[in-house]
Amino acid sequence: MNVKKLIDILEKRGFFYQTAEIYGGISGFFDLGPLGVLLKNNIIKIFKEVFVDEFPYKIYEIEASLFAPSNVLKASGHLERFYDPIIECEKCKSIFRADHLIEEELNMNVEGISLEKMDEIIKKNNLKCKCGGNFSQTKEFKLLFKSFVGAKNDEIYLRPETAQHIFVNFLNVYNSMRAKLPFGILQIGKSFRNEISPRQFLIRLREFSQAEIEFFFNPNYEFSEIDFVLKEKIPIYKREEQRKNSNIVEKISIEELIEEKIIPNKLFGLFLLKEIEFYRIIGIEEDKIRFRHLLEEETPFYSKSNVDLEIKFDFGWKEVVGNAYRTDYDLKQHSKYSNKEIFVVENGKKFVPHVIEPSFGIERTIYAVLQNSFIENGRGWSYFLFKPKIAPIKVAIFPLVNKDGLAEIAEKIFKDLKKEFECIIEFKDSIGKRYARADEIGIPFCITCDYQTLEDSTVTIRDIATAKQKRLAINELKESLKKLI
Ligand code: GLY
Repeated sequence: MNVKKLIDILEKRGFFYQTAEIYGGISGFFDLGPLGVLLKNNIIKIFKEVFVDEFPYKIYEIEASLFAPSNVLKASGHLERFYDPIIECEKCKSIFRADHLIEEELNMNVEGISLEKMDEIIKKNNLKCKCGGNFSQTKEFKLLFKSFVGAKNDEIYLRPETAQHIFVNFLNVYNSMRAKLPFGILQIGKSFRNEISPRQFLIRLREFSQAEIEFFFNPNYEFSEIDFVLKEKIPIYKREEQRKNSNIVEKISIEELIEEKIIPNKLFGLFLLKEIEFYRIIGIEEDKIRFRHLLEEETPFYSKSNVDLEIKFDFGWKEVVGNAYRTDYDLKQHSKYSNKEIFVVENGKKFVPHVIEPSFGIERTIYAVLQNSFIENGRGWSYFLFKPKIAPIKVAIFPLVNKDGLAEIAEKIFKDLKKEFECIIEFKDSIGKRYARADEIGIPFCITCDYQTLEDSTVTIRDIATAKQKRLAINELKESLKKLI
């Protein structure tokens, strides 16, 4: 696929703009245009249907501050450990991610190894900058965005994940909502990481949106209500296959995943199944999805189990959701650093709840949808074949010509339908050009008023998937569209 063409359409038609484009833009930041906002909102609406409305356990949603005081990030470990390893060319002064450089030059996975070890590898393999210069020692590059607050200029940070504010609010939600375990807390919102090399359009950003659920439970809880998940199968890319560099993905049951200790319990399995369901609804088929069991060296120290949902993009497989069994680590850390006891009491027993976290990258999800829906030069023009439920604009209304009262009928239909669906009306250019423009932004249904409309009050409705048209009575339009969408 021609990614440049895809991005051109996204920018030209109002999905995304570069932040501060008229000043030259700024790398790693994007603004959503009107169609981008509609698409994102539709995807989030479906996310909430799957993970809140239809989820078998209670999920509360919160919206916390974008800022985190340093204590929160001290407790979470971000202040100390949240950095990328970087090296500088001593000659041309270019800066690189040391781990990426080693991976690209030597095809070696160096995830989790120390800075000293990276220096050793670079030296031993005589890696040099393209300009021929030698590299400096590997250094830490902190990923947190720092700011200052109040008259005393206290340090404060933009949050690097939405998760920490959920842990910090655990007791607030638990007490104020009279919550009972097991339950989850969801937060959808922006996070910020000062990436050294933002790249791949929406994949590695400095400001991005996450949807994270921290699901709290008693580690002894059986989850017998969801026994139905046990026999369900998911595609898993196991550690041994990754080490062999093979691409073999096995479909195995949640029961076997638990037996093989890849996942801790049925709840983790339920999340994986729900993730497949969510991505299927928004248009990513199962053959483009796999779950990768993270290697030991990639698994964060606080996690007892990590399985990423990866989606096949044009450039390869990429993590879109991280699933982690964070145990009681975070609540205990915040308890320690805040000097506030965080626990629950059940049947007279006091304990700290355990946590399973699915963490969704929203921009990556949007990009997956865009790449998977993009039909390049399909009809002599390129277009998006979105699932109607997530299409930013659902209906376009056109009068065939702007005379003989057709435009007035089209206006009337538009005014009526826009109460129900996101619609546009267009009068300019030939009908063929208007269809092509509607296709380009993935409008699933185009309605045209023609001369027959004047005779029998019917219109044509064209389906983007087939480009075929049929006639419908104007007074049946709304109900028919509701069913189709
Ligand atoms: N909360 C996990 C992450 O942001 O990566």
